[in-house]
Amino acid sequence: MKTCKFMFIRPVLRALQTLTMSDKYNIAFVLGGPGAGKGTQCSKIVEEFGYVHLSAGDLLREERAKLGSEFGELIEGHIKNGTIVPVEITCSLLERAMKDSKKNEFLIDGFPRNQDNLEGWNKQMGDKVNLKFVLFFECPLNVCTQRCLDRGAAGSGRADDNMESLKKRFNTYMTATMPIIEHYESLDLVRKIDATQSPDEVFEEVKKLFT
Ligand code: C5P
Ligand code: MG
Repeated sequence: MKTCKFMFIRPVLRALQTLTMSDKYNIAFVLGGPGAGKGTQCSKIVEEFGYVHLSAGDLLREERAKLGSEFGELIEGHIKNGTIVPVEITCSLLERAMKDSKKNEFLIDGFPRNQDNLEGWNKQMGDKVNLKFVLFFECPLNVCTQRCLDRGAAGSGRADDNMESLKKRFNTYMTATMPIIEHYESLDLVRKIDATQSPDEVFEEVKKLFT
């Protein structure tokens, strides 16, 4: 009789777990140096697998462009210097965009970029998300530099696609972002992709992670 009483506990627990899992946002972080192709690959993933692409950099640029934004100047300064905006701002922009989308699966591109981003995110969003993996686009510095300079010359309109800003952005990437990638590597969550090939060739590798 005793066993009978407890037979119901397991399925109930399992159902509860499924319920809480489906309540959470499913996310993948997308990291890599400036010009590694994060945005390009995210667009392809959106097309083929229906995720919502949220670029932290794009959200910050949008916020900066808003008339009367109290953070406009601060964001502008960080973007020009290739330094990282305080997490309270970036994380709120991300959470708002997630809520507004009414969707459940997100590619969060260019985030978390440093320890402050990581800690702030874990505090504000840790319980609300299920992190599937960290997509890491690995690309040598010379290739990344050339891509950003080409993008600038082709009229990206970005204040930071120039040699002076790029040097600072790479410095931030090496000193602040690489330790975050290493942190996720230690949790076995990093999926590394060689990003030196053409966008279509890179996407062939990316696809395997989503199918
Ligand atoms: O990812 P993207 O290259 O578009 O980022 C452009 C700039 O936006 C970064 O160099 C940085 O100044 C800012 N940024 C940030 N925090 C993030 C992502 C981007 O401060 N998590
Ligand atoms: Mg981008």
